[in-house]
Amino acid sequence: MDGPEQVRARLEETGYLVDEGLAVTCYLALRLHRPLFCEGDAGVGKTALASALAEALDAPLIRLQCHEGIDASQALYDWDFPRQLLHLRAAEAAGVKDADRLESELYDRRFLIARPLLQALQTQPSVLLVDEIDRADDEFEAFLLELLSEYAVTIPELGTLRAEVPPVVVLTSNRTREVHDALKRRCLYHWFDHPGFARELAIVRRRLPGVSARLAEQVTALVQALRGADLVKPPGVAETIDWAEALDALGATEVDAELAVSTLGSVLKYREDTDRARGLDLAAVLAARGV
Ligand SMILES: Nc1ncnc2c1ncn2[C@@H]1O[C@H](COP(=O)(O)OP(=O)(O)OP(=O)(O)O)[C@@H](O)[C@H]1O
Ligand SMILES: [Mg+2]
Repeated sequence: MDGPEQVRARLEETGYLVDEGLAVTCYLALRLHRPLFCEGDAGVGKTALASALAEALDAPLIRLQCHEGIDASQALYDWDFPRQLLHLRAAEAAGVKDADRLESELYDRRFLIARPLLQALQTQPSVLLVDEIDRADDEFEAFLLELLSEYAVTIPELGTLRAEVPPVVVLTSNRTREVHDALKRRCLYHWFDHPGFARELAIVRRRLPGVSARLAEQVTALVQALRGADLVKPPGVAETIDWAEALDALGATEVDAELAVSTLGSVLKYREDTDRARGLDLAAVLAARGV
């Protein structure tokens, strides 16, 4: 893609809408082969960006979901122990005694299980999504940093495997903790804010073309107001889409304060937040937006 505008247009074709800042950052990440570090609240479109990029580039999306205690054997590669054992038994039954030969056979590539990071190094082109890196620990972060600087991995039994073309890498974080500067330094950074009314409405309309335009406008207006209400967990774009979808499933083409309150479970997931929303004048919110 030869410029931010083309990146924007291609992403839009996949149904993902970006503003100019994100289009420029994505373009630079592709152009300079730098990982893209996406940080922001839940449900603002970080993970969806990686899928959209993969679709726009017509490349497979390879996803590594991080979690506490994740290590190289889950992220990079592992040996298929049961199959190795089977091979060993078969070799013994066939009377193979040469220990060196057996060992080299056991650590053959066909017994190697490629986990997402290795898959991404071996698949060209590919988009590697390292999702929710803030859930992994420091040690894993350091390991990832090393991998992202070389796009190569050394497997003691097999040698070094290097990506001919580095994958497009997207890392996401919900900022439950700060990711180290060293890792961030390797990356281009984008903070995902909640979108403003017009862009969020455009996203909802794009994602749910069958939903009434008025309903989409009203739901977007309500969510925008809820975000200003100092909630424990402000709703993301994901919740706006869920809410509009839920109302549409009820056959609604528009929403009033009463229906909004009875369907709050689609958008707010904390009791304190539901209580607070009930205390808001939702009818006034709709009237103020003129929707
Ligand atoms: N800019 C956008 N264009 C189109 N759809 C969007 C956009 N932003 C968010 N969405 C939609 O919102 C939903 C939630 O996005 P996503 O799951 O990517 O959020 P997230 O930031 O990864 O959240 P979490 O931190 O909870 O994982 C998706 O269904 C996605 O399609
Ligand atoms: Mg996500």
